[in-house]
Amino acid sequence: MAINNVGIIGCGTMGLGIAHVCAQAGRQVVAVKATPGSTDKAQATLDKGLARIVDRGKMDAAEKDAIMGRVTFTDNESAVADCDLVIESIIEDIATKKELFRRLEGICREDTMLTSNTSTLSVTAMMAVCNKRDRIAGLHFFNPAPVMKLVEIIHAFETSEKVIQDLNTFCKEIGKDPVIVQDTTGFIVNRLLTPYMLNAIRMLERGTGTIEGIDHAMMAGAGHPMGPFQLADYIGLDVVEAMSMNIFMDVRHEHHAPPHTLNRLVQLGYLGRKTGKGFYDYSQRPPVQNPLLSRPVV
Ligand code: CAA
Repeated sequence: MAINNVGIIGCGTMGLGIAHVCAQAGRQVVAVKATPGSTDKAQATLDKGLARIVDRGKMDAAEKDAIMGRVTFTDNESAVADCDLVIESIIEDIATKKELFRRLEGICREDTMLTSNTSTLSVTAMMAVCNKRDRIAGLHFFNPAPVMKLVEIIHAFETSEKVIQDLNTFCKEIGKDPVIVQDTTGFIVNRLLTPYMLNAIRMLERGTGTIEGIDHAMMAGAGHPMGPFQLADYIGLDVVEAMSMNIFMDVRHEHHAPPHTLNRLVQLGYLGRKTGKGFYDYSQRPPVQNPLLSRPVV
């Protein structure tokens, strides 16, 4: 089935990034703010992100206007009724996602593909609350969505092959490089990346190296664009902690449990770039190691 109209539920970093990608590829997008209220902030954030690309000379102003023109912002979920594909990108809470999927079944057409951008939760659990299950799947984009080429297409328990193939074609048409993955906690990338970041934190706790030293080693020695602490701060430490807990609850192996330092930073509200402080302190340019972490936290 051709996918021309895309509904996106959730206007956070990922939702807006996915809206950008789809609209840039010529799709009509309905971007739904998941909590009731004004959509001005979401609209301004997308506009600002696109303006930055124009300023860098990578997009002309007319294309930016065309992209903005293809995105309709609303706080009314029913606006996705005519969409061919819906991608939910709301908070990582399984109960909230299940309720949303239940409602979407009542709103959308029978043939609308309903997908989740979850990072580690079970798509099959979302599918389980639906009656027409073959059109439920995962579409997992990576941050920043306009830059990262990968989309993990999650094959949940009863997803039809036809839906997987339609999603695969769609991902390629919007310029992505998809991979099909079975519905297991963390899929491919987060199942590998999460323990990698947790191990870096444990390494810090053991005194193996400094935050900057470990980051430098992984960039200069393994060719990563960011070190593990920069990456954790970029993803958001609350998200990293939640991914860790989801994997831990699945496999019940201590290795996947969030380390003490991660728990403490999240408890203190130091969530990384979005709060200005995490493993680094972003109030300084360039950012410096969070001074709280210069002494043992255990
Ligand atoms: N939107 C659009 N474009 C963006 C952008 C954004 N939010 N952020 C960066 N860019 C573009 C810039 O415009 C620039 O484009 P050009 O080269 O065409 O000018 C390009 O990306 C590079 O950006 P910068 O020069 O500002 O910075 P950089 O070279 O340091 O790259 C980065 C930034 C792309 C984020 C890079 O550091 C990187 O790839 N980091 C790793 C990111 C990563 O691993 N993401 C996955 C996280 S896991 C996840 O997302 C899954 C999950 O479920 C939690």
